[in-house]
Amino acid sequence: MMLRQRHLLGLEGYPAEDIQTIIDTAFKFREVLDRPIKKVPSLQGVTIVNLFFENSTRTRISFELAQKRLSADTVNFSVSSSSLKKGESFKDTAQNIEAMKIDAVVMRHPTPGAPKHLTEFIDSVVINAGDGTHEHPTQAILDMMSLHEKFGKLKGLKIGILGDIAHSRVALSNIYGLLIMGAEVTLCGPPNLIPPFIKDLGVNVNTNVDEVIEWEDALNVLRIQRERMGLGFIPSIREYRAMFGITQERLDHHKKEIVIMHPGPMNRGVEIDGTVADGDQAIILNQVLNGVASRMAILYLLCGGKSSEEDES
Ligand code: NCD
Repeated sequence: MMLRQRHLLGLEGYPAEDIQTIIDTAFKFREVLDRPIKKVPSLQGVTIVNLFFENSTRTRISFELAQKRLSADTVNFSVSSSSLKKGESFKDTAQNIEAMKIDAVVMRHPTPGAPKHLTEFIDSVVINAGDGTHEHPTQAILDMMSLHEKFGKLKGLKIGILGDIAHSRVALSNIYGLLIMGAEVTLCGPPNLIPPFIKDLGVNVNTNVDEVIEWEDALNVLRIQRERMGLGFIPSIREYRAMFGITQERLDHHKKEIVIMHPGPMNRGVEIDGTVADGDQAIILNQVLNGVASRMAILYLLCGGKSSEEDES
């Protein structure tokens, strides 16, 4: 089964059937991860470069693990060890990597649109692992897979996304993906961190987190991204926590049990309490596991692996 688009640059306008295909394939790979030997030959002979122009631990490790589980050959290229510091242009870096005959590039870059730009210079498959404040499609797919696992469906689910919507590529990709899959989305957070245009995408906005908790099935709690905000976006961390923090006390006030998600890395005691993160309502570590399975599915479907029947042998 192939996907309609050659690259995975974002979920804006992505076909619902293809999102479903990725999720279904990811569940098959989840079974592989439960086996004693967690490796299949699906991408043998395929070479993938992880091109990271921005720091990342979990996304890079998740992709690397997915590649290893699929038996692909991988090379890691991070900006600190690159020629970029020596003044090489983006185009030259891209073309040099391409000249080494690779099949796919997984790229994280601080500039929105950089992965799309890369497709103009190279023939390989490009997968966006986060481009600035724009999109992070593989995160949204693993989030949707985790919701699917929990609720058995996505259509009709009521999902809250809480925090710094304005700077969050996780939020934007989740909004696109969830709406395409027929879920309802309510954004919540400080009004100055919810851009006015975002309502046009078809989401609800409600700055009262307790009302959102009463409405929703699951809440995706975003990290307060201190590195992306200049000073002054939120008055203080203490005030943020008082108004929007997902504390145990806040959840205890509500009779209903919502599912709690977080893309990581978490600021415990800021946007989420440690007890909530470690509690029964949270599916945060499931998201991490599903991240590997989702990325396996995406790599497999885009890099033209053998059929899954062949893998069984
Ligand atoms: C997210 C990211 O980098 O966009 N994290 C991640 O992919 N693991 C979210 C974040 O940085 O808060």
